[in-house]
Amino acid sequence: MGSSKFHYLRIIVLSFLLFTFLPEAVHSSKKCYIVYLGAHSHGPSPTSLDMEAATSSHYNLLTSVLGSHEKAEEAMIYSYNKHINGFAALLEEEEAAHIAKKPNVVSVFLSKEHKLQTTRSWDFLGLRRDAKNTAWQKGRFGENTIIANIDTGVWPESKSFRDGGYGPIPSKWRGGKACQLDRVHGSPKNLCNRKLIGARFFSDVFEAANGKVNPNERTARDLQGHGTHTLSTAGGDFVPGAHVFAVGNGTAKGGSPKARVVSYKVCWSRTDENSCNEGDIMSAIDQAINDGVDIINLSVGGRRGVTAEDILTDGVTLGAFHAMSNNILCVASAGNDGPYPGTVVNGAPWIFTIGASTIDRDFTSTITFSDGRKIIGGSLSVTLPPDEAFDFILATDGKLANATIQDAQFCKPGTLDPAKVKGKVVNCIRKDNIKSVVEGLEAKSSGALAMSLQNQKQQGKTLTDEAQMVPSVSYHKKLSGSGTNLGGHPPNSPHPPKAPNTYYDVITATAPPSPSLTVKLSPAKTVIGRKPAPVMASYSSRGPNKIQPSILKPDIIAPGVNILAAYSLGTSPTTLLQDPRRFEFNVLQGTSMSSPHVSGIAGLLKTLHPTWSPAAIKSAIMTTATTRDNTNRPIQDAFDDKLAGPFDYGSGHVQPDLAIEPGLVYDIGLKDYLNFLCASGYNEQLISALNYNSTFVCRGSHSINDLNYPSITLPNLGLDPVIVKRTLTNVGPPGTYNATAKVDGSEVTVVPNSLSFTKMYEKKTFKVIVQTSSVIQRYKYQFGALVWSDGKHIVRSPITVRRRN
Ligand SMILES: *[C@@H]1O[C@H](CO)[C@@H](O)[C@H](O)[C@H]1NC(C)=O
Ligand SMILES: *[C@@H]1O[C@H](CO)[C@@H](O)[C@H](O)[C@H]1NC(C)=O
Ligand SMILES: *[C@@H]1O[C@H](CO)[C@@H](O)[C@H](O)[C@H]1NC(C)=O
Ligand SMILES: *[C@@H]1O[C@H](CO)[C@@H](O)[C@H](O)[C@H]1NC(C)=O
Ligand SMILES: *[C@@H]1O[C@H](CO)[C@@H](O)[C@H](O)[C@H]1NC(C)=O
Repeated sequence: MGSSKFHYLRIIVLSFLLFTFLPEAVHSSKKCYIVYLGAHSHGPSPTSLDMEAATSSHYNLLTSVLGSHEKAEEAMIYSYNKHINGFAALLEEEEAAHIAKKPNVVSVFLSKEHKLQTTRSWDFLGLRRDAKNTAWQKGRFGENTIIANIDTGVWPESKSFRDGGYGPIPSKWRGGKACQLDRVHGSPKNLCNRKLIGARFFSDVFEAANGKVNPNERTARDLQGHGTHTLSTAGGDFVPGAHVFAVGNGTAKGGSPKARVVSYKVCWSRTDENSCNEGDIMSAIDQAINDGVDIINLSVGGRRGVTAEDILTDGVTLGAFHAMSNNILCVASAGNDGPYPGTVVNGAPWIFTIGASTIDRDFTSTITFSDGRKIIGGSLSVTLPPDEAFDFILATDGKLANATIQDAQFCKPGTLDPAKVKGKVVNCIRKDNIKSVVEGLEAKSSGALAMSLQNQKQQGKTLTDEAQMVPSVSYHKKLSGSGTNLGGHPPNSPHPPKAPNTYYDVITATAPPSPSLTVKLSPAKTVIGRKPAPVMASYSSRGPNKIQPSILKPDIIAPGVNILAAYSLGTSPTTLLQDPRRFEFNVLQGTSMSSPHVSGIAGLLKTLHPTWSPAAIKSAIMTTATTRDNTNRPIQDAFDDKLAGPFDYGSGHVQPDLAIEPGLVYDIGLKDYLNFLCASGYNEQLISALNYNSTFVCRGSHSINDLNYPSITLPNLGLDPVIVKRTLTNVGPPGTYNATAKVDGSEVTVVPNSLSFTKMYEKKTFKVIVQTSSVIQRYKYQFGALVWSDGKHIVRSPITVRRRN
């Protein structure tokens, strides 16, 4: 259909994460800049001669500014000569500014640095290995789809990547035998095989900024666990008996369990953090497009506030654009900066942006206080004798004299006094939304026997379980007398906690903690069948989309809380150097965990419908998503118990069994995105550069509202009616679909409101006319939906409107 210029639909999952900042070059004021030139005039299938010519044009451009070829050689880090046209170079600010003025240069920007921050989830999504007709069977388990991960590398010995029963590597793979992995004790003969078909690393920009990587570590081997976890969530094979401390025991597997997988390592350790640089990421994307992969999972990207405002100066957004023009769908994480509004990242319309929600499985442990209070919390790690009572102490009461209360409440390193906390259960406040292992380390180093970990208000009721170094239980309740900015509902909250015996509720007495308080901790256990589920994870980043307000983001939600998947033996489950443990599987949190679920599902759709465009696959997954939970009530938000809405979950929670047969799709091709850029105000010359350098003419009639997106967002309405155009493509049997549309406070009319399709891939266009009423408050978003149905398929699009005048 539409844009399938190439044989294979490919999908890139950009599961970007958080913390972005700008790296300093080590030796001078030079920094790594990306010089972006658009698409190559050699088109989408470059020969090696084309690539050489592109590289020499990059050197010529650099030489013309730096004065000599030697200086250009010295400055050049990468020449992107395959699909992305541009290069990365170490430059002074004035040199970069000079290059930006050259003809044909689309943009010049600093290579931003990004920092990184999954068993049961597939059953929860309705996929079962032994069932007959789920999306897994229909999508043939994603067989022969190639999933690539741009992340921290891979642990090749993981059982998730064994190749027993796999046929030859699909011929569309053009990546050859590149397998940049080192052997360790116990390595099999072939580190790459018919399952893990390739591994490469990209470190040049990281090394330019941070100095050389240790020679033994110049490998695509995962020494941080993240990449192994995410790759196995998307494409790991079935591995029975996967568990962490015996909880979550079950069969680990990815969304496309029979897919082939490739790892591109771009994230490197620096002391105890990691660093993923845009210049390295762009090189990995350029390579992955050329290697012929179907799905790439990129775990890094856009951070709120630091992400470029402009799509032409963001390496990850541009990389995703080139992937889309090569028929690859980019799936990315929404970010972990929720629950605050406007925090969602990866807002470009060609990226599939995924938020995180819970599944119906919990790992629980009960804290029983000697004063009668009981709290059901989350835990992977409690193995204490359940009947023994231990002394309980608040971290603020157990602090060292020189530590501040502000630091001690979060159990920051060096704040707890062993003389006070040794042998006790210490209560710490969770600082970071998704990671608190440093708090567990402080509890352990100060001799605490266990830790209770209390959510702050912004973390709501989302309990994230980690393989802590001490037995640990997280919970969200306010303990009376335990400080002021702690978890729990503020007084007079309009949304009081619900009736007891639901997930998070507990019996609470009122006595404040006292020095004599003791607690018992029950062993961690797995509980399946939780209701309600899914619930929005409080940390999942929220709309509105600050970069492209007319595109609703996130697009959908998928499981991202307490996800168990394969892990690296090259690091500890906490990634802390002080932690000697090594786990084959681990439980991790975040929108990084939800995006591979969607890439796995996209892999099934790709196997089933190899000619569909990336936008068609995305539409299928979005229009079949649900806004209801497993109690058939509207999905709730773990942050405040209110109902979640489109700024939290986009179109809703992914439903793979429906996504594979959506009935109708909203398709979008390269031209449509270019028209969208015209309507967004970019000039024709820049837009032409993105069009494989052939001139693109912006036609006057395009409105930004008319991009054929599977959701409708009108953030600037006046009182006059606004007309939105959409086109549906039939991908099911012939049929007549009727429309219903409703938005709170607005009149919505669909013309025509019935469409008949007589054949496959037939297209029909319709208009949606939206008129707000003067009764509606200005600047307040109103929500609703447009639904097309033939009685069998339900094709649903959320509508979001805001009155400005
Ligand atoms: C794009 O096309 C123009 C006009 O044909 C040409 O001058 C320019 O060099 C091309 N740019 C690239 C990067 O190939
Ligand atoms: C996990 O489950 C399998 C199959 O039920 C069982 O054989 C195995 O002992 C269990 N492992 C643990 C650690 O509970
Ligand atoms: C307090 O002093 C101890 C040594 O007595 C030191 O190890 C610790 O880092 C200090 N903590 C802070 C927060 O300054
Ligand atoms: C992609 O990377 C993100 C971030 O690390 C991760 O959450 C996700 O699971 C990965 N997805 C796949 C399909 O590997
Ligand atoms: C669509 O509308 C027509 C006319 O009102 C009606 O006859 C038909 O049953 C409707 N179809 C569906 C699937 O609701």
